[in-house]
Amino acid sequence: MCDLKRQTAKIRSEIDAAIADTIESSAFIKGKKVAEFEKNAAEYIGTKHCISVGNGTDALYVAIMMLNLQPGSEVITPSFTFVATAEAILRAGLKPVFVDVSESTFNIDAKTFEAAITPDTKAAIIVHLFGQSAEMESIMKVANKHSVTIIEDFCQSFGAECEMAGKPKKVGAIGKIGCTSFFPSKNLGCFGDGGAIFTDDDTIADNARAFANHGMRVKYTYDSVGINSRLDAMQAGILNVKIKYVDSYLECRRKAAAKYKEMLADVDEIIIPTEQSGCRHTYNQFTIRVKDGRRDELKTYLEENGIPSMIYYPYPIHQQKAYLESPHRVAGSLTNTENLCKEVLSLPMHTELEVGIIETIASTIKDFFKK
Ligand SMILES: Cc1ncc(COP(=O)(O)O)c(C=O)c1O
Repeated sequence: MCDLKRQTAKIRSEIDAAIADTIESSAFIKGKKVAEFEKNAAEYIGTKHCISVGNGTDALYVAIMMLNLQPGSEVITPSFTFVATAEAILRAGLKPVFVDVSESTFNIDAKTFEAAITPDTKAAIIVHLFGQSAEMESIMKVANKHSVTIIEDFCQSFGAECEMAGKPKKVGAIGKIGCTSFFPSKNLGCFGDGGAIFTDDDTIADNARAFANHGMRVKYTYDSVGINSRLDAMQAGILNVKIKYVDSYLECRRKAAAKYKEMLADVDEIIIPTEQSGCRHTYNQFTIRVKDGRRDELKTYLEENGIPSMIYYPYPIHQQKAYLESPHRVAGSLTNTENLCKEVLSLPMHTELEVGIIETIASTIKDFFKK
């Protein structure tokens, strides 16, 4: 699904030097490399602050804790996402409100979002799934109209853009707080776990930094109860190297997606991913929809032919035991979510994907439907 070995090989000497440097300095926690990465990442995303944390899940939890919401307040979120999004809401003592997504973009749209808002709705975690931004211009209009605070989950979409007032803006810099993950297979991945939150708000940044460090501002002095969540210096050093190449990585993903689309355009039995106008899709995943209930059959056929594929996600979160038994609300019907879980199939997608491999994958898919 993802060839990190070849990606790393191309920058191996720089990575080795960054790791050696950290070992030499023996500054493994916080320090210069982490500060340098936070500066680089904030500059890239276009926010005043970046606070690095241990992973994307923590980034979401820290972000939502910064809103100081009354227990039980409603937070709108999709059910078609990785579980960490909803998990953060419940961990913070709040109530997830699951809404449907668009069947073409896989993201929440402004209309569905607005319809789910009640007087109890205080925030929303908008997910930019598979590498593409949600329709943020209209979502922000709705959010401002109803005083709903927006947290962006751009764990899968580092570097994706959305047109705001006629100009492209990076996701993660549009809502009040943006949260991302540096899990190895993400658009910008490290060699383990990592994550970060982004904001222009000085108070949120200061509080988030303290919260992620045991609630500590002055050594061994605690104003609030926090957690321990940090990006280590080794990962920060690796990310400082990789962030220089992230735009070229995104270009590789876009090129691979264009080739897939060209090769699969005439396969009537599937639906290829759509790009919303004004959005720079970064294709963290290339996810097709398979019609007529044949998804699992196609997956098996690909597997028999040595081609991996993945189902992101096979079950909606609102139907899972843990979430059914926790406080939540389902807003309206989640028909698209339920159908997508039965139709989606993610094909191999990474920065090293060669044209020949894409051609083989596409012709294997065509063979399957000719059988
Ligand atoms: C949409 C989304 N949110 C949150 C996360 C959590 O990130 P992490 O695995 O770094 O905790 C992920 C990671 O897969 C994700 O895809």
